[in-house]
Amino acid sequence: MDYGMQGKVALVIGGGGGSGRITSTMFAQEGVKVVVADISEEAGQETVNIVKAVGGEAYFIKCDVTSEEDIKAAVNFAVETYGGLNFAINIVGTNTDFTDITQVPAENFDKMFYICTRSTYLGMKYQIPAMIKSGGGSIVNMASAGGLVGQRKQGLYNAAKFAVVGMTKAAALDFAAQGVRINCVCPGPMLSIGMKKALEKDPHFGDQYLVDVPIGRFIGQDEVAAACVFLCSEKAAAITGIALPVDGGMVAD
Ligand SMILES: NC(=O)c1ccc[n+]([C@@H]2O[C@H](COP(=O)([O-])OP(=O)(O)OC[C@H]3O[C@@H](n4cnc5c(N)ncnc54)[C@H](O)[C@@H]3O)[C@@H](O)[C@H]2O)c1
Repeated sequence: MDYGMQGKVALVIGGGGGSGRITSTMFAQEGVKVVVADISEEAGQETVNIVKAVGGEAYFIKCDVTSEEDIKAAVNFAVETYGGLNFAINIVGTNTDFTDITQVPAENFDKMFYICTRSTYLGMKYQIPAMIKSGGGSIVNMASAGGLVGQRKQGLYNAAKFAVVGMTKAAALDFAAQGVRINCVCPGPMLSIGMKKALEKDPHFGDQYLVDVPIGRFIGQDEVAAACVFLCSEKAAAITGIALPVDGGMVAD
């Protein structure tokens, strides 16, 4: 299937991680030039190497999403390097606590919103004007199934991800007429770096999440990446303002 993306430019923030790396590689296979932004130079550079190995073009820029200057610089770098910006994927998030909100230290509220929500706002703040100047584009924000339904012992995470969903919908309404589509993906439990670490400590850590997933398994980062690339493609030209569950049926219940 031709996704109609040849020659376009993408910025993947959190591109050193699992879903960011696969999204970057899938973009490259569709002829998209990629700027990989990540706090980890080693992980981001590895993604660049993988993109180049499949015949794609990519550059790395170091970016800490808690810094407005870093996010602005990443957007400017994409525009200066490749002449514009058509796609952006805002992936970075965190999960600080696995307990009810009465047990959560107040400073973790700020940390959660800084990394999950403020980073998404700052990403869009700079990506949208760059896309308008480039003749239009598409943004995909990483929310979560936990941005659509409440989950036990996930109060702060739910709050931060519901906010990502709400901000995505509002921005989609504000910029649809200017040719910028904005959606989010809402994965169920994924085998991300954090989840793998938690499973190393406790092999049964995932059980509490999988019980809510009708297909009975973790969601692959490749499955989330495929949704991100589709939402950026011409095949999704009529889709904006959605929160797409990639969750094995979790939120259908
Ligand atoms: N793990 C799950 O079960 C699950 C489920 C739904 C949604 N999510 C969301 O998925 C996203 C993570 O996706 P992934 O699977 O690619 O994760 P990942 O852990 O594989 O990769 C995350 C990447 O983000 C980078 N990063 C961390 N902090 C950063 C910062 N301050 N600035 C810039 N980069 C930073 C890391 O270096 C890493 O490369 C998060 O938003 C998370 O909330 C996760």
